Amino acid sequence: MSGPCVIGVLVSGSGTNLENIALRVEEGFIPGRIAIVISDVEEAYGLVRARRMGLEAVFIDPRSFPDRSSYDRELIRMLAERGVDLVVLAGYMKLVGPEFVSAFRERIMNIHPALLPSFPGTSGVADALAYGVKVTGVTVHFVDEGLDTGPIILQEAVPVLPGDDEETLHQRIHEVEYRLYPEAIRAFCEGRLRIVGRRVEILE
Ligand code: GRF
Repeated sequence: MSGPCVIGVLVSGSGTNLENIALRVEEGFIPGRIAIVISDVEEAYGLVRARRMGLEAVFIDPRSFPDRSSYDRELIRMLAERGVDLVVLAGYMKLVGPEFVSAFRERIMNIHPALLPSFPGTSGVADALAYGVKVTGVTVHFVDEGLDTGPIILQEAVPVLPGDDEETLHQRIHEVEYRLYPEAIRAFCEGRLRIVGRRVEILE
């Protein structure tokens, strides 16, 4: 990577992680810039947050494409046009397809609200709660072709407390996410992440 790290963010929902990452970029903690925010959901509040922070934010409607791969190709085109080095999935609820993964191989990150490989998928918090685990957590990982299966960059445990419901538990998980995701993105942008098989080495 030459020059500052160019970041593209994909969201589907509230976008609190996106906003937090954008703040860490503004502060200089992450040495890069966010070139574009894309949502597959028109009313995603993440788009509002992005525009409020002066970022280019666009809704691309999956229904105007015949299939996932043509949708993904449009996203690839928009991201590549802006010279994006790193794609950050921040509550993006659509599974990215194989073409997307190979266009940005080892350059797509996701954050998951559980300790993978436990509780993958879209309801990691509810599933952990329903299972009755005492400890869950947060995982930041690279994205590969599988569902939440890519090499793990950072993980941190979050205890499940007596009386927790999905909302209280997700709130504490979010607090950890706001710390972990910027750290992982910063390490990527500083060229300090090395993938060796399934393991990710974080260089000092
Ligand atoms: C986060 O909990 C993240 O782990 C999951 O989706 C949620 C997004 O929250 N992938 P927000 O939109 O950043 O508030």
